[in-house]
Amino acid sequence: DGKADRLDEIIASHSRREGPLLPILHDIQAEFGHVSEEAKRRIAGALNLSRAEVHGVVSFYHDFRSEPAGKPVLKLCRAEACKSRGVEALVGAAEAVAGDRVAVETVYCLGLCTVGPNAMVGKTVHARLDSAKLTALIGEMA
Ligand code: FES
Repeated sequence: DGKADRLDEIIASHSRREGPLLPILHDIQAEFGHVSEEAKRRIAGALNLSRAEVHGVVSFYHDFRSEPAGKPVLKLCRAEACKSRGVEALVGAAEAVAGDRVAVETVYCLGLCTVGPNAMVGKTVHARLDSAKLTALIGEMA
């Protein structure tokens, strides 16, 4: 397919230089956002390395990743106290704004029950959410 052809093209464009592995990985990372299993196999085949050797290099350098970057995650508390403070009424709109760009996950109690409904993004808790606040927050993450 087109992706495989493109991988082979990138590999071929570097294969004649000395130490082609890192430049190939950089180009693939830049173009595809990660170095997939298929890419590792193709690189290994072209450079006469084992797949494990290629994988070792990919995991060693922080510049490279084996999986596409994940979506940003919002953890929405749906435990009792946040429920009684109205979180369930926010879920529909939150999920609609999130679409497939933000992952809305459910958590059970963030320990700040008196100021709910609460959600956590990274290490930051967002308290006293209403529909407008929550959808704005997700909109900023997307
Ligand atoms: Fe939501 Fe405790 S129930 S923070």
